[in-house]
Amino acid sequence: MGTIHRVVFGDCRTMKEIPDQSIQLTITSPPYYNAPFDYPGLFRDYNEFLTLIEDLCRDLYRVSAPGRIACFVTDDMLVKGEKYPVVADTTRLMLQAGFRYRDRVVWVKPKGYVRISRRSGVVVQHPYPMYYYPDNIQESILIFQKGRFDYSYVKDMPAKILEKSRISMHDYNDHEWHLTVWNNVLPLGPRLEKGIAAFPEEIPKRLIKLFSFHGETVLDPFLGSGTTMKVAQELGRNSWGYEIDRGLKKIIAQKLANDHQSDSKVEFRFRQEPRKSRPTVPCKHLTAHSS
Ligand SMILES: C[S@@+](CC[C@H](N)C(=O)[O-])C[C@H]1O[C@@H](n2cnc3c(N)ncnc32)[C@H](O)[C@@H]1O
Repeated sequence: MGTIHRVVFGDCRTMKEIPDQSIQLTITSPPYYNAPFDYPGLFRDYNEFLTLIEDLCRDLYRVSAPGRIACFVTDDMLVKGEKYPVVADTTRLMLQAGFRYRDRVVWVKPKGYVRISRRSGVVVQHPYPMYYYPDNIQESILIFQKGRFDYSYVKDMPAKILEKSRISMHDYNDHEWHLTVWNNVLPLGPRLEKGIAAFPEEIPKRLIKLFSFHGETVLDPFLGSGTTMKVAQELGRNSWGYEIDRGLKKIIAQKLANDHQSDSKVEFRFRQEPRKSRPTVPCKHLTAHSS
């Protein structure tokens, strides 16, 4: 079965190209609020960042099919010595939009993976109380649900689709997908996605297998380099992606062209709205994620 993948270069605050209730799963990682390496000064202030998330949550509720899931890969952000509660605020805004809070998985990175700040050294210099600032090696995967899923849908599903959607018990048990802590997903090395804060393919791979059926449609409103879309393509799901930075078209196209097995179609659309792009950052860093 062929799949279709639609990239819209435009602001995800309104995803007017997507019909109501047509998305079975959303997986996304919003721009890290003014992250020193990837997005310095992208937002005027934290409130502007929250307004973006709030607007997105509202339209996400419209496009999500009843009972289905939306996942945010994100974390609290340290900017100029101030810690911003991105996880709490994203959760609040999703609840406000009408979603239910279903779960939170903590993605733990290897111990040496502290990208933005090594604050823990303060105690080494001043071994006294009140100097403690731990280094962050985790990221949150926030899982929300639009109402409740009707499991009779699974019972009525064609056996062929069900078989293609089966979750491997080897993955589930031996790779510890069953825990709320994912220890064994490595951040990316220096590749195509340099400076984009991309997540590793393993994250959307797990979420797509756990929360969507073969042939369904996955959305990433902050598409970046196209990781979610690439994995959706490989796993026989359709997809939509939104991205404001048109400069990423080449990278997205390259990622999607690597799949030689599936019979899939890729479509790029360009909205008539003022061009925006991420600030250019001289980024020597590998890839992903917050402090
Ligand atoms: C953290 S990155 C996503 C990385 C992606 N998960 C990947 O694996 O490559 C966030 C992306 O959101 C894009 N973005 C920021 N604001 C946006 C908006 N209002 N609408 C659509 N995309 C936006 C940025 O340009 C950036 O590429």
